[in-house]
Amino acid sequence: MKVVTPMKGCKECCAYPPERGALPLSSCGELGGAAVHCAYPPERGALASSPAAWTEDSEKGPLAKSLAAWTEEKIRSAWYWPLETVVREARECTDRLWGRKVFLRGLIEVTNYCVQNCLYCGIRRDNGKVERYRLSEEQILSIVQEGFRKGFRTFVLQGGEDPEYSPSRLARLCERIRGVVGEEPAITLSFGILPPEGYRDLESSGANRYLLRFETSDPALHTYLRNGIPLSRRLKALEDIRNAGLEVGSGFMVGLPGETEETRIRNILLAQELQLDMGGIGPFIPHPDTPLAGSPQIPLELSVRSTALLRLALPGCNIPATTAAGSLHPEGRERMMAAGANVLMPNLTPPRYKRAYQLYPGKICVDEPAFACTSCLAVRVAGIGLELSWERGDSLRVKRLRNPRGGITYAE
Ligand code: SAM
Ligand code: SF4
Ligand code: FES
Repeated sequence: MKVVTPMKGCKECCAYPPERGALPLSSCGELGGAAVHCAYPPERGALASSPAAWTEDSEKGPLAKSLAAWTEEKIRSAWYWPLETVVREARECTDRLWGRKVFLRGLIEVTNYCVQNCLYCGIRRDNGKVERYRLSEEQILSIVQEGFRKGFRTFVLQGGEDPEYSPSRLARLCERIRGVVGEEPAITLSFGILPPEGYRDLESSGANRYLLRFETSDPALHTYLRNGIPLSRRLKALEDIRNAGLEVGSGFMVGLPGETEETRIRNILLAQELQLDMGGIGPFIPHPDTPLAGSPQIPLELSVRSTALLRLALPGCNIPATTAAGSLHPEGRERMMAAGANVLMPNLTPPRYKRAYQLYPGKICVDEPAFACTSCLAVRVAGIGLELSWERGDSLRVKRLRNPRGGITYAE
């Protein structure tokens, strides 16, 4: 394991985010002669992250041990281990760090309009069969209000790249949400690539987290599948998100046509390199009204293996058991949780809209009224010996940045 020699009082980057004033951390240090910085210094434009923060406690016992991420070498070799072995390792790692909790996030599918034309996606611009909708701000606020009353402490607002939901309108929406439910819940957004100032506006308007999957680590495949948009553009946006002081969520689909075993391993390694706070992965499910209709469906096992290795690569990352996994297999979400996923995202969108937000066929829970899934999930989670948690469930990196001397909560 890498051990960072602490470099007390680093003057270069010990503030996060800088505009909020100094938040001195002592975890900047030296590793192999190179400086390793604890917070991302935006002005440098480099993707630095928090490995130093993770390794600072490396000689201090079980907490440090549970934080130790697997190396590239180990991840590469574990790719070929029996599935049950990697799954067991990943669940043990999750239990040590997060306990048996599974955090709930309320998902709201805000708009299925999209100017982009990603080849894999059911709501792509050129799919003329989609009945398009856009929730009003009032509808969103009332869902959030009811969700808050029922106990949700994270709301995930997601949609296509819809010019009607511009960054400034999304920022205003965040302010209105704060006006209704105050500062307690976390607000996560996922509306594709925005200009850098868009992410900053969102953060200063009350957003906490942003999700933007890189989709695949293979640059050529990315350009092809995302209709000409290069992977580097997606990675730059992830950098902008971190710069803006938001928790960074990304991830990939498993089983895209054209990916190789090396792509699949590199997906995990790229997620680790990005030091994600949230890692969302799920099986690719071919949609009949897209150019990828007729692509083979890769079995769930590959997504389970990827989930387990993602956990071992990023122990402190929040990892959802995704709806796509539950749609591909009746126990898909349970199998992802058994492999280290610690988040579930029940869909709070009213049924008539969630039916029209079909990224892939066979989406589950479309007929259940908003909030009905929560009790179903409680039973499912209990069935595998886990328990639902209504806490906000911030990423451990962020907890630590807020409170560098004791921010990590160890298996509460
Ligand atoms: N428009 C935003 C974006 O692309 O980042 C957010 C919404 S997008 C619909 C959310 C995610 O859905 C994408 O990042 C992609 O990984 C996933 N997705 C799209 N089509 C899919 C498919 N056919 N099978 C599985 N996942 C899919
Ligand atoms: Fe639009 Fe996102 Fe679908 Fe691409 S994946 S077409 S950006 S909604
Ligand atoms: Fe939606 Fe079971 S999770 S009905």
